[in-house]
Amino acid sequence: MPMPYSELVMEHFRHPRNVGRIEDADAKSIEGSPACGDMVAVYLKVDPEGLRINDIKFESYGCASNIATGSIITELAKGKTLEEAKAISWKQASEALGGLPPIKTHCSVLAVDGLRAAIQNYEERHGLVKERVPTTVDIVRKRLKRVMNPVVGLDLVRTKLVRDIEVADGTVSLVIDLPADHQFANSIHEDVREKIEPLWDVDKVVVEFTE
Ligand code: FES
Repeated sequence: MPMPYSELVMEHFRHPRNVGRIEDADAKSIEGSPACGDMVAVYLKVDPEGLRINDIKFESYGCASNIATGSIITELAKGKTLEEAKAISWKQASEALGGLPPIKTHCSVLAVDGLRAAIQNYEERHGLVKERVPTTVDIVRKRLKRVMNPVVGLDLVRTKLVRDIEVADGTVSLVIDLPADHQFANSIHEDVREKIEPLWDVDKVVVEFTE
């Protein structure tokens, strides 16, 4: 049977570059793919003067294509300015790997989304967001689509765990449909805060669990 992957994909899969986490990262992201439920985490160290990516690492909880594209986007992004890195596309990543089977397009999309979300996280943490759109319930819901429900490996919104969202005077209040002593309540709480707090006009995130 012919291999579905190019030599390059296999090489990056077997010897992925820049794997791991950066403990004192300046920014990070965790993105999940709605297509397959796999995840990728991206960590950045950024030079605050030139806004250049000095170091980048990734962790993949996905397939061979996901690992290979994580590897290639970190190589493409290292040393680039945030603006240059934002312009890296999934098509470019896939081309740099000598092509991916069409059914695997979402894997490179996931890796590039992870990179963009990490850059966005840096910009939000450092007051660099140019488009200051006021936070709405819809924006919060969109972000919660990036928080996984570890019970089933899909996001909180799709698994209908978000019972209520309110946005008022810089406070975002959420009700999550899980008991407060559930084994994953703490990690979900932390993930939710991590995704919502960086929004430029949010001062406080209040998470309530049911029961
Ligand atoms: Fe899920 Fe590739 S199949 S990232």
